[in-house]
Amino acid sequence: MIIPLAHRADQTQEYYFSVKLAEVRRLQAAGHDIINLGIGNPDLMPSANTIGALIQSAQQPTAHGYQPYKGTVGLRQGIASFYKTTYGVDLNSETEILPLIGSKEGITHISLTFLNENDGVLVPELGYPAYRAVSQMVGAQVSEYPLLEQGGWQPDWEAMTDRVNASPEGSPTKILWLNYPHMPTGAPATYALFEKAVRFAHDHQILICHDNPYSLILNKKKPISLLAVDGAKEVGIELNSLSKSHNMAGWRIGWLASSKPYVDAVLTIKSNVDSGQFKPLMDAAAEALTNSEAWHEERNAVYQGRLDAVHAFLDALGCTYTTDQEGLFIWAKLPDHVESAEAFVDDLLLNKHIFIAPGFIFGPKGNRYVRVSLCMPKERIRTGIERILG
Ligand SMILES: Cc1ncc(COP(=O)(O)O)c(C=O)c1O
Repeated sequence: MIIPLAHRADQTQEYYFSVKLAEVRRLQAAGHDIINLGIGNPDLMPSANTIGALIQSAQQPTAHGYQPYKGTVGLRQGIASFYKTTYGVDLNSETEILPLIGSKEGITHISLTFLNENDGVLVPELGYPAYRAVSQMVGAQVSEYPLLEQGGWQPDWEAMTDRVNASPEGSPTKILWLNYPHMPTGAPATYALFEKAVRFAHDHQILICHDNPYSLILNKKKPISLLAVDGAKEVGIELNSLSKSHNMAGWRIGWLASSKPYVDAVLTIKSNVDSGQFKPLMDAAAEALTNSEAWHEERNAVYQGRLDAVHAFLDALGCTYTTDQEGLFIWAKLPDHVESAEAFVDDLLLNKHIFIAPGFIFGPKGNRYVRVSLCMPKERIRTGIERILG
């Protein structure tokens, strides 16, 4: 006998990487040396101070109990100072910050907090798959907004306005998901884009959820936050994370920042779902947030070195790409003769033992693209090139 699943479990597909990485592990278990350029899982270490703070905190007898639902004061203050020094944004550490178990978790809590069944959600036609999956899980109507490749993968605001105006009576468009520096295309963030987004949100009474995990990775100018725009906190929530920028993806530390009413509302939902994180993680995260500019520059210098190797890797595959991308990946177009991206990626995995992400997992517009991660030493990327050319 099998107890029937909820509709949402029937309708939701297992996360692509959850399935594909199991295949990668099977190949590894069979003795194959897989070069994994598929996922954005930083292989570099967190700062030494971060590890030191973790160890020191774990030795305290008071470190092991339940923690406050909205995290420790120290972590929230650390996030507030980080926002001030990194983005020039003032946040009240008591009322405007909510630590999360990674920003991925925040997508679910925000969706549960704001979306009624059939409410509209705008997601980029290429983007982090969880925006769409979670919106669908909570019964919202997902509408994709176009990204204009000619304009550097910027949102098509006119099309977005049409989508919003077409919302059926009683089912308003409630949330707009935005993410710049953009994953997967690497399009940089600009202040002008954020200003436009905030104006759009005010005009149409929509909540902008800006996902900002890549602002410090290979950024060509000072990192920016949506919350730096006047009036952003009235209509916007920003998600941020230590996963990529501080090499702490497995630690599961992120947060959201906004005005008090939104933070309180998400906390109401979240406090019924999970509890405060392990104190040593939060203490160490607060330490990580003090990493110097030099530390970030050193990390970016490593990625810069890998970038050249990834460009050569993509040249070997016959792919084309732009050289102004920011973040942890390079987005590249497949050569015209390739018929199916899925077959191309599978062939690379099975025959050359190299894993890269097919673009379609970020939306159908990605059919003719692949995404290559920088989270691999350049020597391994060069081995990949040899396998392709050899
Ligand atoms: C755009 C984007 N948002 C959110 C996440 C999730 O990050 P976290 O580890 O903070 O949950 C990722 C991870 O790949 C991402 O690419």
